[in-house]
Amino acid sequence: VPEGIDLKEEILRLKKEKNAIILAHYYTVGEIQEVADFVGDSLALARIAEGLDNDIIVMCGVHFMGETVKILCPEKKVLVPDLNAGCSLADSCPAPELEKFIKDHPGHTVISYVNTSAAVKALTDIVVTSGNAMKVVNSLPEDEKIIFGPDRNLGNYINSETGRDMVLWDGACHVHEKFSLEKILELKRQHPGAKILVHPECPAHVRIVADKVGSTAVLLDWACETDATEFIVATESGILHEMRRRCPEKTFIPAPPNDSTCACNDCSFMKLNTLRKLYLTLVHEAPEIHVDAAIIDRARRPITRMLSMS
Ligand code: 13P
Ligand code: SF4
Repeated sequence: VPEGIDLKEEILRLKKEKNAIILAHYYTVGEIQEVADFVGDSLALARIAEGLDNDIIVMCGVHFMGETVKILCPEKKVLVPDLNAGCSLADSCPAPELEKFIKDHPGHTVISYVNTSAAVKALTDIVVTSGNAMKVVNSLPEDEKIIFGPDRNLGNYINSETGRDMVLWDGACHVHEKFSLEKILELKRQHPGAKILVHPECPAHVRIVADKVGSTAVLLDWACETDATEFIVATESGILHEMRRRCPEKTFIPAPPNDSTCACNDCSFMKLNTLRKLYLTLVHEAPEIHVDAAIIDRARRPITRMLSMS
């Protein structure tokens, strides 16, 4: 990176010059969200990717998000700032193991959370995100046999809300699993008027104290619309940037993890996206996401099915 350049200005210039668009998930750092053309949750990012006419799409998020964009826009150059930005939840469900699981449960409809590899999506009947999982499951006949993966917490949440008995894959997100109930309750004692916002990837013992459970976009909208002015936020801390931007008069307090003295719970994969790497990605048009054509063919159907259902 040349010394003394203004990274934000250069990113905006390169983006225009190359007819590129920058998409970012709410969990990326604030300065990435500030240069992005579109910031959203997993559902909104999949929706917007479907209709893009740019030559280059840069996905600032994690690897599976880049793959989802590539599956929806196979003819575009899809770039990510760091190929190492993985996802513990996606990693908890390797495609060969899921294939065996499906064989062991014949006659089941396979619903996979978007936080999965392209190869897992290719084995899936319907993809869902935290923003539409409940709606998609509710749209299926009550007696439909369902395999739901890989997030056992989201699966449990849907089972408990709908009375279904979906067979759950035993995976989880390392970030959402490690919120400390004790520390959340301590924050609640200090801020008795605060509402507790919880992502459904959190386990039941944390969800139980929530005033609102929902995807990042749902939590964001609810916090802005409700009369409350203070919130304890149990999801990845990147969301606080957009919460504070949209509702500057309200107070958002990050819920801490249980394994350190850190006040915030960060996804180290999401935080691999930096302005410097984004700049280099646009300069070199790399790293690029590649997905096998046969996988793209099979993985597109369950994603477009989700988009048409939600
Ligand atoms: P949503 O964007 O669907 O809320 O998902 C959260 C997440 O963990 C993304 O990695
Ligand atoms: Fe994956 Fe969890 Fe990070 Fe989301 S927050 S990208 S689910 S590890």
